[in-house]
Amino acid sequence: MGLINGLHDAMKKGKGKDVLGKTLSDLVDYTAYHFTQEEELFKTYAYPDYLPHKKEHDALKSQAVDLREQFTRGELFLSNKTVLFLKNWLNGHILGSDKKYGPFLNAKGVS
Ligand SMILES: [Fe+2]
Repeated sequence: MGLINGLHDAMKKGKGKDVLGKTLSDLVDYTAYHFTQEEELFKTYAYPDYLPHKKEHDALKSQAVDLREQFTRGELFLSNKTVLFLKNWLNGHILGSDKKYGPFLNAKGVS
């Protein structure tokens, strides 16, 4: 995902610390926007796994807010571990649950 890759690049250039706060804010915005759009589609087309999928969204959204708050309080430090965690955190959802609804929506004529 672009946001996290940008953070990784900045880190390699020694500028990661400046970028972490912005990346976390962008993550909060991204998850709120992208997840809401998905949920609207699910409701429109009566996706049967709507509820468990929404639960995952809600957990990820509140985790994103938590991470941003930890950073604001000075409790979140940039490290390879942080970047790896962020990568796996969102990719896990995008490559897991998000992959499952594609065929369902395609069958409804949504590409
Ligand atoms: Fe999703």
